[in-house]
Amino acid sequence: MLYYAAPMEGFTDRVWRQTHQKWFGAQGAADRYYAPFISPPENRVLIKKKMAELAPEANPGAPVIPQLLAKDGELAAWMIGQLRALGYTEVNLNLGCPAGTVTAKGKGSGMLRDLAKVDAFLNGVFSHAEGPVSVKTRLGVEKPEEFAAILEIYSRYPISELTIHPRVMRQQYRGQADRAAFAAALPRCTMPVCYNGDVTTAAQLHALEEEFPALSGIMVGRGLIADPALFRKARGGAPATKEELRGYLTDLYHGYTELFGSAGCAISRMKGHWFYLIHCFAGAEKLEKQLKKLREPWEYEVVVNQIFTLPLVENN
Ligand SMILES: Cc1cc2nc3c(=O)[nH]c(=O)nc-3n(C[C@H](O)[C@H](O)[C@H](O)COP(=O)(O)O)c2cc1C
Repeated sequence: MLYYAAPMEGFTDRVWRQTHQKWFGAQGAADRYYAPFISPPENRVLIKKKMAELAPEANPGAPVIPQLLAKDGELAAWMIGQLRALGYTEVNLNLGCPAGTVTAKGKGSGMLRDLAKVDAFLNGVFSHAEGPVSVKTRLGVEKPEEFAAILEIYSRYPISELTIHPRVMRQQYRGQADRAAFAAALPRCTMPVCYNGDVTTAAQLHALEEEFPALSGIMVGRGLIADPALFRKARGGAPATKEELRGYLTDLYHGYTELFGSAGCAISRMKGHWFYLIHCFAGAEKLEKQLKKLREPWEYEVVVNQIFTLPLVENN
């Protein structure tokens, strides 16, 4: 079974992808790292800063899959051509993002409101782009029953892999991923299918593999930020040690400080990582509150040093 790192805006950028492979790569790297979405520019002029994220020289190691958030199929196909010119093979299309600012424009899972638009979008992409194009989707807008009709549209196109996050748009990230709806949809899928949603432990990964042996992959987002050794553990390796977590978080902090040119900006990015990862440490509630409030680099360093005096939770 292949394990993929989910695209997560604000988390799975190039600094994280490289740092994750440096510290956990030997046995714990993702088989593929999906990059957070980029939107193809309407004037077809590439934005240097955005493209720097995908520069091949900044992304050595395991394959990176760029992801596009778009609603104009021809424009997306043009962007796919640009990414192919950089050496990327697979490109992923985002039909899952539930953020209001995205769905209001009819993008992400907002496109699932109008299946004629999904059809026209995919037609535009597949009639103008070559090579593997995968899709990441939710089950629908309001209720999972919508997925049958959505899948009927997807089945018209040579989608290289369909990643299904079994929530609907309205749900955002509330409730639980609907495994029953996923199980019902899977036999009707004609393309390779990847499961995504609410996986946080190696045992859960193994249980999914057993329940759905036909899956081509399992994609993990928040669970991998919370436990960067998750894939290593699933492959029979050791949990993260304190030294590894220390090295990983220090490299992330320095990497972001260099990328943003400011430790203050790096701290706000690090707070995102800590939001998930602090649960590796036992008894961190008080320090978690301090971490949320602090602003200065020296405060950050003091609180992080204190967190590292705490024991790791067992079987972290
Ligand atoms: C902060 C955040 C940013 C995300 N950014 C993206 C994104 O850029 N593209 C995308 O397809 N999904 C994005 N997602 C959704 C994740 O890829 C994934 O589908 C979701 O978190 C469920 O998987 P998980 O339970 O393993 O985290 C994002 C999710 C979060 C929480």
